[in-house]
Amino acid sequence: MLIARPDLSEPAADAGPPRLVRDEAAWSRLLTRVPDGHAEGCPYARLLAQAAAVDGAFVLGRMAQSLDGRIATASGKSFWISGPEDILHTHRLRALSDAVVVGAATVQADDPLLTTRLCPGPSPVRVVIDTNRRLAPTHRLFHDGLPTLLLCAEDAAGPERIGSASLLRIPRSPGSGLDLAVVIERLAARGLKRIFVEGGGITVSRFLAAGLLDRLHVTIAPLLLGAGIPAFTLPGVDDPQQGRRLEWSVYRLGADVLLDIPLG
Ligand SMILES: NC(=O)c1ccc[n+]([C@@H]2O[C@H](COP(=O)([O-])OP(=O)(O)OC[C@H]3O[C@@H](n4cnc5c(N)ncnc54)[C@H](OP(=O)(O)O)[C@@H]3O)[C@@H](O)[C@H]2O)c1
Repeated sequence: MLIARPDLSEPAADAGPPRLVRDEAAWSRLLTRVPDGHAEGCPYARLLAQAAAVDGAFVLGRMAQSLDGRIATASGKSFWISGPEDILHTHRLRALSDAVVVGAATVQADDPLLTTRLCPGPSPVRVVIDTNRRLAPTHRLFHDGLPTLLLCAEDAAGPERIGSASLLRIPRSPGSGLDLAVVIERLAARGLKRIFVEGGGITVSRFLAAGLLDRLHVTIAPLLLGAGIPAFTLPGVDDPQQGRRLEWSVYRLGADVLLDIPLG
């Protein structure tokens, strides 16, 4: 079985960002959602802290990107950008979350299952944002029978189910897409308060731009793609001083680096 915590026994000669290592007992304790001493200082512990928001929701965004800021090739292929340790990390984040949220383009490109196949722990409710219902019901998560919600605009045409998944209609935001504050309210009202926004870039960027992420995990892989789908798409600034400066904690995930970024 598998787990993560900073390996404090790293030799001094290898000083640097802590590694996330495998440890069955610590992972089991985290799954009980009771942070303990071993969890302190590890990014999972923060996911278990009491959420400060009035509705009790905690929203974590995540992306794995190449060094040159791409989450997929131009043709939409994203497998193997990050290494196996990051994939395991992603499954653990699912296991600690009530809901995992992805955009329609990710379902179209990857046909993902979004379950916790690689670690012990429950699979979260899958939530797909598909404003205008462009997705076909043939995708695996719409007919494997596991809890799944499709979020679309109130005025989107079509039946109230897609395969075995239920539909949740959300008002459009005055800008573009769905009103994400309402998305979080509606999920929290269903008891889905630990919300993991797993991708892709547009979806994570929209939650970030709306000020709705409490935390962001970005994995950077030592890989150059040259072109492809960008990690972040955000309003630009004229001067670097106008940019949003962040703080982060750095962990090693195999050959990759994980940046754990508080946003609250
Ligand atoms: N490396 C990674 O960490 C990672 C993770 C996940 C996915 N991926 C890859 O990323 C690619 C897809 O990413 P992407 O950035 O192109 O797209 P995406 O975020 O997966 O999906 C974007 C689409 O989802 C819908 N959507 C998302 N947020 C919305 C909102 N607030 N309101 C309304 N609709 C919303 C919109 O659909 P409409 O345009 O129809 O309105 C939007 O165009 C795929 O190739 C996938 O393989 C990589």
